[in-house]
Formats: sequence, C-alpha cells, structure tokens
Amino acid sequence: MKVILCGLGGMGRHWLRTIQASSDVQAAALVEVDAAVARQCAADFGLDAGLIYPSLEAALAAIQADGVIDVTPPAAHKAISFAALEAGLPVLSEKPLAGTREDARAIVEKSRQTGVLHMVAQNYRYSPLAQTVKQVLEGGELGAVGAVAVRFFKGPHFGGFREDMPYPLIIDMAIHHFDLMRFFLEANPVRVTGHSWNPAWSWYKGDASAAVLAAFDNGTQVNYTGSWCSQGQETSWNADWRFECAEGVLLVEQDTVTVQRMTGIADRGGLRMVQNAPPVTVPLVTMERQAQVYLLHEFYEAVTQGRMPGTPCQDNIHTVEMVFDVVQAFQHG
Ligand SMILES: NC(=O)c1ccc[n+]([C@@H]2O[C@H](COP(=O)([O-])OP(=O)(O)OC[C@H]3O[C@@H](n4cnc5c(N)ncnc54)[C@H](O)[C@@H]3O)[C@@H](O)[C@H]2O)c1
Repeated sequence: MKVILCGLGGMGRHWLRTIQASSDVQAAALVEVDAAVARQCAADFGLDAGLIYPSLEAALAAIQADGVIDVTPPAAHKAISFAALEAGLPVLSEKPLAGTREDARAIVEKSRQTGVLHMVAQNYRYSPLAQTVKQVLEGGELGAVGAVAVRFFKGPHFGGFREDMPYPLIIDMAIHHFDLMRFFLEANPVRVTGHSWNPAWSWYKGDASAAVLAAFDNGTQVNYTGSWCSQGQETSWNADWRFECAEGVLLVEQDTVTVQRMTGIADRGGLRMVQNAPPVTVPLVTMERQAQVYLLHEFYEAVTQGRMPGTPCQDNIHTVEMVFDVVQAFQHG
C-alpha cells in the first residue's frame, strides 16, 4: 500500500521511520510546506528531494497513492483531510482530529459524504499499559468502576505551535487521557466542569494547568488534574490513574499496574474498616505491535481488507467534543 505522508516535523519523522520499517506500507510521496524542513529531512533520511512536494494537492496531481497520513499541526488537519477525502483517499490523521470543534465536525461530515475512511491516531490506547488496564477492568474481578482519579504532571519545553496555542495541556495532551477514559470506561462524558490556569513560571502562552470533573453516561465520575509546566516529580506520559471499584482499587503509578481487592469488613480498634488483600502487581500484556506501528498496520488492514479500525473519526469526535466542552467550561464556568 502506498501512502502520502504530510508534515515532516518531529512526529512526521517518527511516522516516516515507522513507514520505512513496515513491510506492508511504502511512502509514495512526502509533503512539507517549509522548504528548509523538507531539505533537512531529505538529507537526514537520504531521500530523493523530488519525493517531497510543497502541498498535498501537488503530490496528488503527480503520483498515485492509496492513503494519506496527516502529521501536520492541528490547524492544517481540515484542509489536508478534505483534499484527501475528496480525492477518494482514506486518511490516518494524527490527533487531534482538528484544531477546532467546527473543523472536527466538518471532517466527520466529509467522511460521511464521501464514504471514505478517516481514522485518528490515538496511540496511547495501543500500549501494553493501556491494554493491561483494559484487560483488568474487562475481567470484572474488581466489579463496576464508580470513580476515577487521574493525575498528570510534566514539564516539556517543545517550542513550536504548542507554546502559542490556547489551552495546550487540554487540546494537545489531555486529549490522550480523555480518549483513554472513553476507552477504559466504554462510555462518553455527559457533563464537565473545570478550571484552567497558567502558573507564573509557565513558558506557554495558553493555560498549561487545569482541573476537570467529568460525569460519564454510565454514571462513572472522573476527576483529572494536570500540568504541562511542572518543575519536578513528573508522572509518566500515560498519567497516574486510580480506579475506585465496587470490589477494590486498580492503581496505575509510574506505568506500574497494581490491584488491591477488598476481602471484607472487620473491627479495627473499635472502627469497622474495610479489609484488603495485599496489593498485587499485574504483569503488562505483550503486544505484537504497539503505538504508531499498531496504527499503521490497522490503517493498512482497514484500507486493504475493509476492517473497521478502533478509532474512526465518527467515534473520535466524542473525544474531541470532550476536549472542547472542557475548554468551554473553563471559559464560561
Ligand atoms: N500521538 C502523539 O503522541 C503525538 C506526539 C507528537 C505530535 N503529535 C501530533 O502530530 C502533529 C504534528 O506535530 P509535530 O510535533 O510533528 O509538529 P511540528 O510543528 O514539529 O511539525 C509539523 C510539520 O508540518 C508542517 N506543515 C504545516 N502545514 C502543513 C501542510 N499544510 N502540509 C504539509 N506540511 C505542513 C510544518 O511545516 C512542520 O514541519 C500534531 O497534530 C500533533 O498533535 C502526536
């Protein structure tokens, strides 16, 4: 299968390496609007500079392909998606589906009108950690999930579009955690409230810290606290999670999964207290393919065998709606 890869920045290069390592997918063309970035990428990867086009339209006019992989900044996603879908080419887009709610909805509508597949790369779902959490929850040994507490603290100095965009923590990063909430709970949010702020030392223009409360349609309550300008004691990129369940607790801390089951209630110093079994560390599941490698293979199977991927835009729009509902809660209370 031949694809056109759009955007050769940090993540585009990661996708290029993923494509080069694949036996199923080849890059028929690359697209990059910044000529200096294109030249540097051609030099670093030993590519023929003629393979890199200045726009998707120019690439589409020059070569035949079976799909488009969009790794441009969010503001460019709608134009790339429209050009690809109107040309009949399926799209695998980096998250977020688009930079605004309106653009995201327009892409879903364009995919419906054209009948062409559009899927979103939510790679955090396809890690051994996320798959292990999902397996424990599905196994049912802890009973129903009542509430979830999520903590995310990191301090990356990326430079580039993230430092200028509004609400970078929520729109660029927490979108992964919100998508994981939907994946783990198999539910969608129905009500969100929250506050955002930007600490005095923040190097972002937009608010880089936030607290969010979300109620899901199966009754589960989630609280999310995060900062993208933390100065120490970072969590992992996956965040730390505590699932409060009917029969115990599932913890994810620094990418280690632990379960503790309740065994009964007993008298402790005159107080009737919950009794717990010792905490048990859950070994992570093994996966043949992870993250972008998984997604590229899933895209390949969707295009060549008509298999429905896990994150088509029609489903991913719920993650995007949550992101922009949270932003609206910050703005309007
Ligand atoms: N899934 C993840 O874990 C993950 C991680 C990092 C980035 N991302 C996503 O990947 C996308 C790109 O992020 P990045 O960090 O690589 O950004 P970046 O700024 O490093 O690179 C983006 C590149 O796209 C180019 N570009 C802009 N408009 C274009 C257009 N219309 N056609 C072709 N090229 C265009 C820019 O010149 C730049 O070189 C974003 O949507 C981001 O959210 C996802």
